[in-house]
Amino acid sequence: MRRQSDDTASISFTGLYTGEVWRRNSLAPAFLGSGAGPWLYRGFLPVEWLSRSLGGSNLRTILLQRHRTMDHLLERWIREEGATQVLEIASGLSPRGYRFRKCFPGLTYVETDMPGMAERKRRALEHEGALSDGHQVVPLNVFHREGPESMESVVEQCFRPGEPIVVITEGLTSYFTLEDMAPFWARIAALGSRHPGSRYLMETYLVPRQGGFSRAIRLGAEALGRLSASDVTFHFADATEVEEQFRSAGFASVRVHDPADYRERLDLPSNRGDAVVRVVETRSG
Ligand SMILES: C[S@@+](CC[C@H](N)C(=O)[O-])C[C@H]1O[C@@H](n2cnc3c(N)ncnc32)[C@H](O)[C@@H]1O
Repeated sequence: MRRQSDDTASISFTGLYTGEVWRRNSLAPAFLGSGAGPWLYRGFLPVEWLSRSLGGSNLRTILLQRHRTMDHLLERWIREEGATQVLEIASGLSPRGYRFRKCFPGLTYVETDMPGMAERKRRALEHEGALSDGHQVVPLNVFHREGPESMESVVEQCFRPGEPIVVITEGLTSYFTLEDMAPFWARIAALGSRHPGSRYLMETYLVPRQGGFSRAIRLGAEALGRLSASDVTFHFADATEVEEQFRSAGFASVRVHDPADYRERLDLPSNRGDAVVRVVETRSG
């Protein structure tokens, strides 16, 4: 069943903030910045400072933990397991496609987002001469099940059948309820029938359902939800719930990575206490 509205472009401005974080941490080239990014970054400084001082972590820390851990896993699959096709959904201004194509020119990398954001990204990459048959940016709405902006149609148009695809979402799923995301995840699992051995890489947040920490973090999420006119939600309280959800979506295997296990190897920023962010890797049969 479709959501009441499939137009969720109100979330897109959050990609300008994350884009600025990638840029300021030498992950993204200047041309993937935006005019609004520095303003948003400065505007959020007090919130980031307060969150770090009181809670021991903040959004920027979480963003860097998840982004670098996801990069690391993708790189491993390319180098060690021969992954050659990547579909990044809701890529915003993320530099991952640009960086990975520079490192692995043979990779087929298709970036997608809502039409406005996809067009902005396409123009920026085209201006740099970075686009080709192997690196495209096209519109895709995760709630479209048919038509040119559906994931199924993009996959059919852009990828070689019979070969696995690594599907990535970063910073997307928590803007929606579990009820909204579950059918989307099942559709990703179903891609495995035409593309056996496909994987899905995403991040999620483990937040207990009760207690002071839970209340504080849910207040922050509510504020972000109001700003982005979305249903910012924490779907899971622990890794077992994540595993059950993705197995019931149809994935053959699920692995939940804690960035803390990669902290030293990847030089990740640390937090006080446990990190809430987890990177999830699932595989189709
Ligand atoms: C927080 S940003 C993350 C961007 C990027 N992945 C990153 O980590 O920098 C969320 C992104 O989701 C995109 N988005 C929102 N609703 C969407 C939908 N229904 N289908 C696809 N993308 C969507 C927004 O346009 C935005 O670029």
